[in-house]
Amino acid sequence: MKRVIYTIYIMFFIFSIDVLSQNVQVLNKDNIDEIIKLMTLDEKVKMLSGVGDIYNTSKEELIEPLVNGQVAATFSIPRLGIVSTVTTDGPAGVKLDTIQKGIMHKTYATCFPSATTLASTWNLELVEKIGRAMGNETLEFGSDALLGPGINIQRNPLTGRNFEYFSEDPVISGEMGAAVIAGIQSQGVSACVKHFAANNIETNRMSINAVISQRALREIYLRGFERAIKKSNPWMLMTAYNKLNGYYTPEHPDLLKTILRDEWKYDGLVVTDWGAGKDHPAQMRAGNELMMPGHPVQSERLIKAVNSGKLDEKVIDQNVKKVLEYVVKTPRFRNYKYSNKPNLILNATICREAASEGIVLLKNKEETLPLRNKVKKIALFGKNSYHLIVGGTGSGRVIFKYAAPLSEALENVGMSISKPLANYYKNYNDSVVRVTVPTMKVRTRNIIDFAPEPSVSKEQIEQIVKKTDVAILTIGRNAGELWDRDVNGYFKLSSTEMELVRCISEIYKKNNKKFIVILNIGGPIEVESWRDCADAIVLAWQPGQEGAYALVDILKGNVTPSGKLAVTFPRNYEDVPSSKSFPGVPEDNPVNAFYEEGIYVGYRYYDSFNVMPAYEFGYGLSYTNFSYSPLILSSNKFDKRISVYVTIKNTGKTAGKETVQLYLNAPSGVLEKPEQELKDFAKTNLLKPGEVQQLEFNLDLDDLASFHTGKSQWIAEQGKYEVSVGSSSRDIRSKSQFVLERDVVVEQTHDVLYPNFLLNELTKKK
Ligand code: BGC
Repeated sequence: MKRVIYTIYIMFFIFSIDVLSQNVQVLNKDNIDEIIKLMTLDEKVKMLSGVGDIYNTSKEELIEPLVNGQVAATFSIPRLGIVSTVTTDGPAGVKLDTIQKGIMHKTYATCFPSATTLASTWNLELVEKIGRAMGNETLEFGSDALLGPGINIQRNPLTGRNFEYFSEDPVISGEMGAAVIAGIQSQGVSACVKHFAANNIETNRMSINAVISQRALREIYLRGFERAIKKSNPWMLMTAYNKLNGYYTPEHPDLLKTILRDEWKYDGLVVTDWGAGKDHPAQMRAGNELMMPGHPVQSERLIKAVNSGKLDEKVIDQNVKKVLEYVVKTPRFRNYKYSNKPNLILNATICREAASEGIVLLKNKEETLPLRNKVKKIALFGKNSYHLIVGGTGSGRVIFKYAAPLSEALENVGMSISKPLANYYKNYNDSVVRVTVPTMKVRTRNIIDFAPEPSVSKEQIEQIVKKTDVAILTIGRNAGELWDRDVNGYFKLSSTEMELVRCISEIYKKNNKKFIVILNIGGPIEVESWRDCADAIVLAWQPGQEGAYALVDILKGNVTPSGKLAVTFPRNYEDVPSSKSFPGVPEDNPVNAFYEEGIYVGYRYYDSFNVMPAYEFGYGLSYTNFSYSPLILSSNKFDKRISVYVTIKNTGKTAGKETVQLYLNAPSGVLEKPEQELKDFAKTNLLKPGEVQQLEFNLDLDDLASFHTGKSQWIAEQGKYEVSVGSSSRDIRSKSQFVLERDVVVEQTHDVLYPNFLLNELTKKK
């Protein structure tokens, strides 16, 4: 008996040791430090670069993608329970692949409206809902991270990637970014805020050096990131390709350690953009923990650096820790069984709702719109009326199943379109086979986006006008990664487009019929020279796969437009403050980009230097009208916080929503201040005619502060502050003032990120 008990005891002992050792050896959220101790140096360095990138990895190194659409994965160490986790692009939805390793996939994701469209909704709840839908698709397609949102500033209208970014303003960029991140991460997957920082130029994007003053960086280019990070804590952040003041961003310790970690207390994972930077040990030291998409040479270099004493193994350990802290949060680590079947039907309805709120009505002479039932037959001009540009190109493109063109959406709601015209454009679109686009020469459906606009003769229009009640012309533009756009033929209309606008306008006017232009574009284009020709202009942006139906909702009046511009439409390209220095110098092969406009980006420039835009920041018409009550301040003396109240009333005949913007004019003391800056915004509910709603805004001390370069401080200067509430940046409805009685240092920061060249910055004092 004793013997049996003894044997049982020994067995139990061995079992316990086994279980205990298993506990130590298998990763969980509480044993990361112990797990790192069990890893070899080789394993550790491999954890610091990605694997499984289908494009960049050599055949021998290619690891089967875990899911369709994977753009990289993290390294796995099965003996320690470390699983591989997957990243997929963003930011307009999950980017699956149509063909991967020769296999044709038939899985599609939802192509959501572009970031610029989302920002134009000014509706944070709605944008968070979009984030939730994107996050759910990420989860259900088996990915762990969606590579978005992109929250860089739209500094110049020619930038190829503007459609992936929200706005020219850091407050709206940061708020929108925070809403998308919160939505995505509510589904238990990671968002990845990108591209940190100052990623505003695609020309020579792998090396261009953005030279920016400390103040412009703090107030414009970093501010949105700071806001989004502090509000929504993204699990992942992607650095950028460009250099910033002399350093590659992933190799910039001041950017990543001093600002991101020390000042902002960011505790997520920092990854490189795909193939960014040069010096891998430097990236490790700077705190860019994961190199994406990963290449074996990177790990080899890290081992060499450790062995030669150039890199402390402690740095490797710290960075591995960050990667593992990320891994334990992912669905793959939780062994989540994804379905590959997210609710695409539900997501399509969310898509349509967001697109219709993001569409901006730029012009509406004599109530041309809504069409309601007064119009029977439409002459639908423009190749993009028959092929909607849903989103931009490059990694931000989403492979979706179907996007109805406007022609189809109109017909589906019972409107009739001119058949001969439809046949003409359909034949043209079908004949578009190969168009040379700056970065791609392949034949794809989207190539119609880049085909020249075909002309329609005056005689043909004269025929068409007789049989139609109204003319609609869609003008399309697409762009994306790797290239910036040109002024001629891109920012400006081509001669054929111009001719078309003039002829349609003239002929329809002669016949007492209306002419509507739809802009299906990724970012601002020139409108000044032709907008008088149109009776109405509807800015559809790149509205995602349900865009055509959203447009019909607006055209017919089922939805009252409530979108407003989050980016200024300048009258001429030369009016853009960065036009003189974009993309950079030397002109034929830019190396440096001098951001000499400083803090005067977008409306901050137009308003401070009295330059009239074509359509100002915050602008957008409605089918109804709103009145604003005089604003009420909670106090006329600032102490910690001031609340601002305004009551909005729908004074028109149609239900609608109003976007209300709060601007602040700060006193110029030691620091020069822009004429006004957006500090807060809110959107009303859908107000019925006669209905009122009170909105509340809050101003905290940091809303009053500007960055003092010499002192590296955020300072709120004493004096009189003017608060304005308006329907756009130039349609201010009510103003009031409060006083700050003494200077307040809101935050002491570090004296870092100074430009590596002398900058001749724009100032009001000159
Ligand atoms: C882009 C990133 C993208 C990554 C992965 C890069 O070229 O700049 O935005 O997430 O590729 O596709």
